[in-house]
Amino acid sequence: MADAPRPLIAGNWKMNGLCETGRALTQAVVKRWRAADRGKVDLLLCPPATLLGMVGEALKGSGILLGAQDCHSEKPGAHTGDIAAVMLADIGCRFVVLGHSERRQAHRETDALVRAKVRAAHTAGLTVILCVGESAAERQAGRAEAIVGAQLDGSLPDGASDKNTVIAYEPVWAIGSGKTPAADDIRAMHAWIRARLGKRFGGADALRILYGGSVTSKNAPDILPMPEVNGALVGGASLDAEEFCRIASCG
Ligand code: PGA
Repeated sequence: MADAPRPLIAGNWKMNGLCETGRALTQAVVKRWRAADRGKVDLLLCPPATLLGMVGEALKGSGILLGAQDCHSEKPGAHTGDIAAVMLADIGCRFVVLGHSERRQAHRETDALVRAKVRAAHTAGLTVILCVGESAAERQAGRAEAIVGAQLDGSLPDGASDKNTVIAYEPVWAIGSGKTPAADDIRAMHAWIRARLGKRFGGADALRILYGGSVTSKNAPDILPMPEVNGALVGGASLDAEEFCRIASCG
């Protein structure tokens, strides 16, 4: 078995942050990011598109990575209001979150569209954080694996690998709710995802599989040390620098 991949702690700011608050939050994260954690964990900030340039500047020299929350599936062209993957790479992004449940729901993003976006992001040289996860009703019906399996099959193009893709398992019912799955359920789902992708891609030991959904500094010490878990996608708690860096030191 290969060495465990280096944990990734990603902050998804969602639709939050103005120039002043975004700058202050970034500076506070840079200041608190402990030298001791630098070699152990990769830290990533995903601010809204309006703040990417400014946050990227503020992160220079810190070793903290920059990512976006979405991209378009096509090359630059006549797509009013959209942002192409190559534009994100151009402004210094290394990562892009795709297929988040908030976009799958509110923007009716299908697996086919997400797959096209993943392809565009890979072509632009970005690493994709692909989000998958079941609803409460689907879990209660015993369909969690079937739903996640279908999302993985439908959203990941051939050519995806541990070099250009990270999976974030985010049960929809855990996002922003203060609820998290039982430790055994997180462990089981992560192992199941790894086995399934291992079959498709001929091995997935080096693939990073993050957990997301109501991660805080209280539950991170239980979730992040699990050998099946390779980091976290953090929403609400990433808007507080101290809290976010506390979570990162559990990675
Ligand atoms: P949360 O969001 O940490 O606020 O639950 C996680 C996410 O949606 O990525």
